[in-house]
Amino acid sequence: MASNDFGIRDGEQAVELPEKTDACLYFIGRIRTPWKTRKQCPKNARESNAVCAVELDPRWSEALKDVATSSHLVLLYWMDQSPRNLVLQVPGHYGVQRGTFALRSPARPNPIAMSVVRLLNIEGATLSVAGLDCLDGTPLLDIKPYFASTDSVPDAVVGWHQNK
Ligand SMILES: C[S@@+](CC[C@H](N)C(=O)[O-])C[C@H]1O[C@@H](n2cnc3c(N)ncnc32)[C@H](O)[C@@H]1O
Repeated sequence: MASNDFGIRDGEQAVELPEKTDACLYFIGRIRTPWKTRKQCPKNARESNAVCAVELDPRWSEALKDVATSSHLVLLYWMDQSPRNLVLQVPGHYGVQRGTFALRSPARPNPIAMSVVRLLNIEGATLSVAGLDCLDGTPLLDIKPYFASTDSVPDAVVGWHQNK
């Protein structure tokens, strides 16, 4: 559960977690980044251009066939230091209470994060990418091609964030 300086703030609310989980995952690799603490991490994927290494477990190397033809990838990763029981949160940088599903906070029932990253290079089972916001050693869940044609929704709105 929470390590890396997570704690319940005033205005936050937690629930009791279900007794058992419903599915199992394979961590397919680890993400190497320059950031060792949450404070050092960018808040989102566009905040930093640092080159990060995605170290894929070599057993999945064959699955990289044709990946190098993509300029951008969607990475899904597991925010392994997050609490999973928060339903209401008060993000430090906004100071306002919001529902977990209205936020991109790493604290959520299934702490899955995503980023669209720029693919710079593939060497064996290691990908160099730019556009990440996670701690060094964060487990990798999946790699998908980013399709601007279907994944991009330029007129999408998050109402509470519009006037920030
Ligand atoms: C606000 S989240 C956004 C995550 C992702 N881009 C998304 O929208 O799904 C990014 C923050 O998560 C925190 N974080 C990064 N890696 C983490 C990890 N392995 N476990 C828990 N929290 C992490 C850091 O504070 C970082 O600034």
